[in-house]
Amino acid sequence: MGIFEEVKQKVEEILENAENLTGIGENDLQTLRDKKDILISWSDELMDDFYRTLLNYSKTAKVFEKIPVDRVKAKNKKWYEEVVSGKLDKNFYEFQFLVGLIHIYYGIENNIMIFMAQHLKSNFLNKAVKTFETEEAIAVFKAFSKLVDFLISLTVEGYTFTLKEALMDIAGYTSGLVDTMMSMKLEEIYKVLKEELPEKS
Ligand code: HEM
Repeated sequence: MGIFEEVKQKVEEILENAENLTGIGENDLQTLRDKKDILISWSDELMDDFYRTLLNYSKTAKVFEKIPVDRVKAKNKKWYEEVVSGKLDKNFYEFQFLVGLIHIYYGIENNIMIFMAQHLKSNFLNKAVKTFETEEAIAVFKAFSKLVDFLISLTVEGYTFTLKEALMDIAGYTSGLVDTMMSMKLEEIYKVLKEELPEKS
């Protein structure tokens, strides 16, 4: 199987997991579509806050020494507007997998991606509560939240996928060998943690 087919298969698997475990589906996309104009009108404020936060923390600010923040902000704004317009398709999901790789290239860890997704969702929730009736605010927030979590999961999985691919393609290991190496390392870390951590009664 070629790399593109593997990515497509992985995206399908993650989508199936999200559908079964979070109930994400057409209803959520429709909820966003119904409110799309208002949601898009929030994008500048949400993005300004997003990048202000990243620039205010030295660990994340250093990324923007290599690349102008306005360029990154414009790309993320386009991403947000696409998400809330509720017209996402398989191509967008596969593109999201690629987004993960771009962040690996810049050395941005998954935990940072997850925390910033949380940050964005919190601000979105504040706006939804101020703008819509309670029921509507809950529905819009749930739809956005499920979608963001799903998309960030693709980014996170893209990270692990790439590491494994690198070991297989570049170092020449087989998939089985990579799994065995992982299990051996897991056992080692598990033993150390069991010894170091206080026993729970
Ligand atoms: C919720 C979390 C995030 C989302 C949804 C997101 C979204 C995106 C998107 C859609 C792109 C454009 C990909 C492309 O078309 O080339 C991108 C690129 C990028 N992002 Fe993020 N991002 C997130 C978090 C972060 C964080 C935390 C940082 C920095 C600490 C960051 C830094 C960058 C950089 C440096 C690029 C590359 C831009 C370029 O090469 O032009 N992102 N991001």
